[in-house]
Amino acid sequence: MELHAVITESEWASYQDGMRDLSVNTAKELASKLKLSANTSKLLDIGGSHGLYSIELCKKYPSLSSTILELPGAVERASAIAAEHGFTDRVKYQAGNALTDDLGEQQYDLIMINNVVHHFTAEENLKLAQNIARALKPGGRYAIGEFIRGNKLGEGGSIASCAGLYFSLTSESGTWSVEEINSWQQKAGLKIQKPISLMTLPGWKMLIATK
Ligand SMILES: C[S@@+](CC[C@H](N)C(=O)[O-])C[C@H]1O[C@@H](n2cnc3c(N)ncnc32)[C@H](O)[C@@H]1O
Repeated sequence: MELHAVITESEWASYQDGMRDLSVNTAKELASKLKLSANTSKLLDIGGSHGLYSIELCKKYPSLSSTILELPGAVERASAIAAEHGFTDRVKYQAGNALTDDLGEQQYDLIMINNVVHHFTAEENLKLAQNIARALKPGGRYAIGEFIRGNKLGEGGSIASCAGLYFSLTSESGTWSVEEINSWQQKAGLKIQKPISLMTLPGWKMLIATK
């Protein structure tokens, strides 16, 4: 069973509200730690839901605009949440599917995907990374935010382990290790950069790679 294929309209709304509540503080902390150059202008936020990660980055970087690519079922409630926070002129929604849509060529300075790759298989994540590498401008960055699975028993911590169990029940996939996530980025021809960790979300990292 894949969660997004079976949930009802009201469950879609609760899902987006829940993701918003979890992200209020982490989106602020991430925006304070993810350093972009002042002329960064185009962000693609895959599965960006409520939009808080995009909105906090747009607050910090006045030249930035974001497109949130979301599954059609998510868009109505997700865009209503984002509208409560303003920035509707710079944060827009596009209904679609990151696994099947053409993401274009040399379009974006930053492509961010937070808490989504745990829904996709390794093959899907590699193909997505390759499509993203094509869609990035030269020097652009692919940033994957995720709970990180340990490589050995005892590694990873309780939050990432519980998240892995939960995702394996709801999405036919699960959490990934740093090495697995970096391998998709490297096989797509991207160069690994220093990751970001957050005080507000233990067990989670943003793994960044540059074109
Ligand atoms: C766990 S939520 C994460 C939301 C937000 N990025 C955050 O971190 O709070 C996963 C989101 O990814 C979206 N999603 C799942 N599969 C997708 C796909 N194939 N293309 C685009 N969005 C997708 C879902 O609709 C959902 O809103």
